[in-house]
Amino acid sequence: MAQVGWRGHRHFLSVADSSREELESMLDFTVILEPYSGEGNKLSICRGSILQPIFFEPSSRTLKSFEAAMKTLGGDVLSPHLSIASSMEKGESEEDTVTAYAQNADILVIRHKEADSMKRFASRLERGDQSNGVRIINAGNGPDEHPTQALSDLHTVRKYFGGELDGITYILLGDLKYGRTVHSLILAAQKFDGISFVGFPVGGLGLPTIYEPHGYKEYDIREFERFLKDLDPQTRLVNYLTRVQRERIAQERSPDFDYLDDRERARILADIYQEIKYQVTGEHLDASPRDTVLLHPLPRGSEISDELFYSPHPKVAPIKQMRNGLPARMALIALYSGKEEEVRFHRGQIGALQ
Ligand code: NCD
Repeated sequence: MAQVGWRGHRHFLSVADSSREELESMLDFTVILEPYSGEGNKLSICRGSILQPIFFEPSSRTLKSFEAAMKTLGGDVLSPHLSIASSMEKGESEEDTVTAYAQNADILVIRHKEADSMKRFASRLERGDQSNGVRIINAGNGPDEHPTQALSDLHTVRKYFGGELDGITYILLGDLKYGRTVHSLILAAQKFDGISFVGFPVGGLGLPTIYEPHGYKEYDIREFERFLKDLDPQTRLVNYLTRVQRERIAQERSPDFDYLDDRERARILADIYQEIKYQVTGEHLDASPRDTVLLHPLPRGSEISDELFYSPHPKVAPIKQMRNGLPARMALIALYSGKEEEVRFHRGQIGALQ
């Protein structure tokens, strides 16, 4: 098997494990690979490498962009293991299943509903090294983190602000409790200088203290408009919206719901959701500083209207952000496959760096 990991990191489990310099490097490599992420630009950087997706939770964007990323790099992708059931059908433990997949792949991309799952899988693989040198990439561990989404997010922000990640204010709006993309974004963005974070949680779904960055402030959602009006017009603003993670609320509150049948349960959840409806509009964007970008990791609920989501408004970037997942994941896979030199070789090969 190929070299193990990148710059002393074997797995990519949390953005907190990468230094500012490492994140910047990953983003530089993303820029090098971005021109190849379009149609018909297949590379051979990862020829002979195998990626195995293991998804214990549903996914559309993340799974597909990992598959596309490895294929664009010239590597192979084995058919994904998709199981949202918590126990394996034949009674095999999840750890044994992951160990089995490790025997035939170089990289495992794993998503799981439990926060401690990635560490559990990684430590099992490392014990006695039954892992064949395989690396794990975290594609979402329950309500905790989604580190590769943070790479796409920072790549989007950096492009928007002319290559800069310092001096940015981040508004975090929505479900800050269960929104794992918010947690990873905070852990990554706070490595840069002059960053501030302001939270507008909905439905009491505030940011857990373990993710609280220095100087973090949280406001009632009803103060959102006033907050925008009072902002210094020179502010470089990222307005990061998330949906309410209904499925996680349902899991957390399940003891209260246990006696209900599925229909009744769905109705109560719909009521909870209804109570916490919120939407960012074009007027909010018009009232925001000139240097504002609206991001959303998707999928969206009603928090962005159809009209705004598909509009060419220069401050609206969720679709670009989604597209940026491909080059960001290409860079990550290539680096964790020991291909840094091969990626460097492609600097400036197609078009100008953006
Ligand atoms: C997010 C996730 O899975 O955490 N989706 C994604 O991968 N872009 C966000 C969400 O589910 O709300």
